[in-house]
Amino acid sequence: MEEAAELFGVSIKTFIKLLKEEKVPARKIGREWRFSRKALIDWLSSGDSQAYSASEGEAKEFFNKVAPEWEEIRKDYYDESIKNKIFELDILEPDMTVMDLGAGSGYISRTVAPHVKKVIAVDISGQMLSELRKKAYEEGIGNIQTLENDGRDVAVPDSTADVVFASMYLHHIEEPLIAIKEIKRILKSGGRVFLADYNEHTDMELKEKMHDIWMGFRQEDIREWFAGAGFKDIRIYVLDEHSKKQDSAGKPGTGVFIATAVK
Ligand SMILES: C[S@@+](CC[C@H](N)C(=O)[O-])C[C@H]1O[C@@H](n2cnc3c(N)ncnc32)[C@H](O)[C@@H]1O
Repeated sequence: MEEAAELFGVSIKTFIKLLKEEKVPARKIGREWRFSRKALIDWLSSGDSQAYSASEGEAKEFFNKVAPEWEEIRKDYYDESIKNKIFELDILEPDMTVMDLGAGSGYISRTVAPHVKKVIAVDISGQMLSELRKKAYEEGIGNIQTLENDGRDVAVPDSTADVVFASMYLHHIEEPLIAIKEIKRILKSGGRVFLADYNEHTDMELKEKMHDIWMGFRQEDIREWFAGAGFKDIRIYVLDEHSKKQDSAGKPGTGVFIATAVK
């Protein structure tokens, strides 16, 4: 197992996750996993990078399509408790510039706008952003700037924002650590990230319906990525209300967590 993980250049933990999620050529003989070095290299080289970009492309297409109904759709998956946590943690100041990554139609942007100087709402979906602009206009909100951009490489200078929000965005990103490092770049020194996402789940129907890449996250991984990107004071809060909801099969619903950390 150690040698196989080393061959792929990943930790044992990541390698075990790979064994569960992908069809890696391997056999468990007795209590030990056995691998063929050649089979592992063949498996690696038979992959197709476009298969991954395609799944991200599908998400963009999906969100462009559902943009006008997103506000209603999302209510089935998470409620107002994510917003409430922002105010409970008291992290906003009137002179702040904040960013909302994967802003969608502005669930977070339109909530925080009246409490800060400026919001930069970033999303890969142009339709989501035009929906956000329409709703902000109707609500008399005039301090949201929209930016159609991939969240992994945002066209803003370093140290732009006092707070970066990322609500239900990270599970659409193939390489979360890259997205987290980009958040760190965008934050001012002492600035804070506020991330909301699903706890690790097994709801395949949810994943497919929403074109998700990750089926939620484990707290250990979030901590490891934040620490790896150089964040301090990492805190994770689990929002109980969501865990009690039921999915379509009547099983307990997918819970939501909030992670905050300081640059
Ligand atoms: C589940 S929605 C969440 C929207 C909003 N934050 C909310 O909480 O309602 C995910 C959003 O992330 C956006 N998104 C997905 N991949 C992205 C990427 N690589 N860069 C920027 N935005 C992305 C989608 O277009 C979509 O608007």
